[in-house]
Amino acid sequence: MTDRKRVGILISGRGSNMSALIEAARAPDYPAEIVGVLSNKAAAPGLEIAASHGIATASLAQSKFPSREMFEDTMTLMLESWEVDYVCLAGFMRVLGEDFVNRWAGRMINIHPSLLPDYKGLDTHARVLAAGETEHGCTVHYVSPGLDEGEAILQARVPVLPDDTEETLAARVLAEEHRIYPEALKMLVLGQV
Ligand code: GRF
Repeated sequence: MTDRKRVGILISGRGSNMSALIEAARAPDYPAEIVGVLSNKAAAPGLEIAASHGIATASLAQSKFPSREMFEDTMTLMLESWEVDYVCLAGFMRVLGEDFVNRWAGRMINIHPSLLPDYKGLDTHARVLAAGETEHGCTVHYVSPGLDEGEAILQARVPVLPDDTEETLAARVLAEEHRIYPEALKMLVLGQV
């Protein structure tokens, strides 16, 4: 396919959603290619996985910058050097400032392990279990200035089973994350959202 959109991924850790996007983008008819992976943690295992696929990688520690703005401006410079059209957050564990979010508005998406607007923030699986919910899931959404508040693009639902632990529930949700994230990115770049 010609004219595939160029995508940069921001990670902080293991990068399993990143891997799902990389795998999907290997299909010749997938409308996007992953051109760079940026981590705010040098030790993020996802960086090595991306590099093993021949994808450009970089790590930038926010603590090395005098301000969050300068850190985020540098991320933008890096993404622009890769000429990315879209940005995917995949387990990027930093709240982003308004300038950065506005810079990529409509072109930056995130995956969150809950049925937003329910259970924004961290520890979603434990909170879902503690609340006795019977249903849980994940959401791909646009990134907007409020945490986990951007408009939803795609959701998947899973049952919460009586004997679920945080681990079993997280694994069931994660399998759905890996399914819907590539699907949502495809919809976005094809203008089908
Ligand atoms: C996923 O559960 C994702 O929904 C959340 O952070 C986790 C990242 O996992 N935003 P991974 O690095 O993609 O494996």
